[in-house]
Amino acid sequence: MKPANKLPLTKDCHHWTHLGEVPWDLQKYWQQRYTIFPYYDEGIHLTHDAWYGVTPEPVANRISQDLSSIISPGKRTVIDCFAGVGGNAISLALATEEDGATQRWDKVIAIELDAATLACAQHNASLYGLDDDITWVLGDSFKYLELLTKSPDQLHADLQVDVATTAIFASPPWGGPGYRTDEIFDLTQMEPYNLAQLHGAYRAMDHALYLPRTSDLRQIAKLVPDDMKIEVVQYCVEGASKAMVAFIPATTNNHPDGIP
Ligand SMILES: C[S@@+](CC[C@H](N)C(=O)[O-])C[C@H]1O[C@@H](n2cnc3c(N)ncnc32)[C@H](O)[C@@H]1O
Repeated sequence: MKPANKLPLTKDCHHWTHLGEVPWDLQKYWQQRYTIFPYYDEGIHLTHDAWYGVTPEPVANRISQDLSSIISPGKRTVIDCFAGVGGNAISLALATEEDGATQRWDKVIAIELDAATLACAQHNASLYGLDDDITWVLGDSFKYLELLTKSPDQLHADLQVDVATTAIFASPPWGGPGYRTDEIFDLTQMEPYNLAQLHGAYRAMDHALYLPRTSDLRQIAKLVPDDMKIEVVQYCVEGASKAMVAFIPATTNNHPDGIP
């Protein structure tokens, strides 16, 4: 596995400027384009599906701030396992220490499975002046983490990071029955990756999971032993929660995932 070159925008990468161009199912999201990306008019590009899953910039910025303070300063690399069109990766790359000058992360690795989506992310990051600040990977983040922990020599040198000083941010797809309608969302039913799969892949590192706002807190609490704490933060836009993030410390023992 190696870092991705700069990918070209394709016909699946859009920058719509008039409502008439926008498919009906996305019009509601396009109307919120300046909340999602305040610099939308600079030429931000998204794929069709990215409109449903992108993290709005104010939320991404707040998450980056919280990550910076909750995760120990000794963690120097952050991996965004589901880069999408770059909402979180851009914000992580822009994050600074309290002095406002030093970059919080020495290295930001952002992994995305879909080439058109990654092309949008790279393009959007360059609009923020981040041409060389993010190491992009076109591929499966679970495969990457497996190689990182078991056969790092199979990774390009730029992707061989020290697990002990690395943290993970993950905003997976939220498919599966119930996320929009259930009063409490059962994380065992999240598709295509459920809570046990995500935590199983990330447990050796401090990790932050971006999850539906109604996610079952009891399932999250069971991920770590009783003497460890998980911080959970609800992120709101205009007074309404958009999502929650669970900040989960690394566990090195064999504590069961314990999903009820
Ligand atoms: C909810 S979106 C992420 C949105 C992103 N945080 C943003 O602000 O643009 C989830 C993304 O994960 C990608 N994806 C799904 N499975 C993946 C995997 N195994 N490895 C890497 N990316 C994956 C999807 O193609 C999709 O773009």
